[in-house]
Amino acid sequence: MSTLIKGGTVVSSTGSSLQDVLIDGDTIAAVLAPGALPDLQPDTTIDATGRYVIPGGVDGHTHMEMPFGGTQASDTFETGTRAAAWGGTTTIVDFVVQAHGQRVQDQVALWHEKAGGNCAIDFAFHQIIGEVNAESLKAMDELIGEGITSFKLFMAYPGVFLSSDGQIVQAMQTAAGNGGLIMMHAENGSAIDVLVKQALERGDTAPYFHGTSRPWQTEQEATHRAVMLADLTGAPLYVVHVSAKQALARIAEARNAGQNVFGETCPQYLYLSLEDNLGAPGFEGAKWVCSTPLRSRAEGHQDELWRYIRTGDVTSVSTDHCPFCMKDQKEMGIGDFSKIPNGIGSVEHRMDLLYQGVVDQRISLEKWVDVCCTTPARMFGLYGRKGVIAPGADADIVIYDPNGHTSIGIGEGRSHHMNMDYSAWEGWEIDGHVDVVLSRGTVIKDETGYVGSKSHGQFVKRSLSQNLV
Ligand code: URP
Ligand code: ZN
Ligand code: ZN
Repeated sequence: MSTLIKGGTVVSSTGSSLQDVLIDGDTIAAVLAPGALPDLQPDTTIDATGRYVIPGGVDGHTHMEMPFGGTQASDTFETGTRAAAWGGTTTIVDFVVQAHGQRVQDQVALWHEKAGGNCAIDFAFHQIIGEVNAESLKAMDELIGEGITSFKLFMAYPGVFLSSDGQIVQAMQTAAGNGGLIMMHAENGSAIDVLVKQALERGDTAPYFHGTSRPWQTEQEATHRAVMLADLTGAPLYVVHVSAKQALARIAEARNAGQNVFGETCPQYLYLSLEDNLGAPGFEGAKWVCSTPLRSRAEGHQDELWRYIRTGDVTSVSTDHCPFCMKDQKEMGIGDFSKIPNGIGSVEHRMDLLYQGVVDQRISLEKWVDVCCTTPARMFGLYGRKGVIAPGADADIVIYDPNGHTSIGIGEGRSHHMNMDYSAWEGWEIDGHVDVVLSRGTVIKDETGYVGSKSHGQFVKRSLSQNLV
């Protein structure tokens, strides 16, 4: 089966030009000057005139069906990857969870069971190490050969996921030895627990106080500690879901000093805020309870995060997709914000939301593709297959209409396809539209809607990260 995508502007992380793309089966066969093969008779031709042709999005941070906060993330692999396809994401990297008392390899088998045969798009895994011990350290070495080459540790959530500094050093030493990447949830969990308790004792129980009891100092302090422990051990460090400008300043400082440290942020931290969202009337703010928390707009975090995307210190933008419904899930925290399950769902909207940065002239078209597709693929050992339009790569391609329009939400005339009873982005009217999505040469979304299947997505074994620094 061959497909020719003709007439579009192919956008890569380094430039954009009018080019045709020839697909043969699952992979890209050639990227050609427009009309270079006039006698070619492909099985299918897609006219992309006036539209961008970009690599399929790589969302390097999702939590489908994640057990968390006494409940479970509301998107299954089936519903979450279908929503991702709607939004132009063709690969997710989801987190296998090892909590206290669980065996890493049992959890890996469980995640394969949950995801296998249920994904609309390709998927890969990171491993959460919730209990660093001799067995989980050994598993970190084993997982490299199984295509799971990054390990998330937590400095937050004492008694659930938190690792002590000593445990972090041991896990970092293991990663330094096997070439893996350490991902860090950098918040000072025991300081936060005290602030949460004090807030509740004062009667500050509304969602807003989730934000104020996790102040930027707790993020910057943990980020600094993670950077220093990574320096000590020689492990590369990827700090996930950074929301505080001070934490990013520390990451930038480490990068300037030549350390292999990388920052990730998410659309919610670029656009939403403590005042406007967590501070919404009544219990509404629960919709935006996630950790790290949304930050104050008055303090200017959002603008600084955009600047750090431009300087390259934020290397990738992922969603940290971890959706919960208001009903029965977020509602668990009425009267006590600490019981609200932490997480926001955005897997469907990341490509569109970041495209607004292009529209607003905050970032270039190429930077859009870089942080949403190419660098996540490279950081997570998928490059060559994913994140790039080049001969030999998987034909994961999005045809994006810059003149299109997207209305986000669950209200009339709007849409989303995630399994959530609200949208964190309700009423957002977005320039641009995901028209067509191909995953390994198969059209899974076209102008009529989703046309894929849950048996299409395959597990992708990751190699070690490339081009660190
Ligand atoms: O609030 C969040 N971020 N929920 C997902 C779990 C995590 O820490 O990434
Ligand atoms: Zn986290
Ligand atoms: Zn996460």
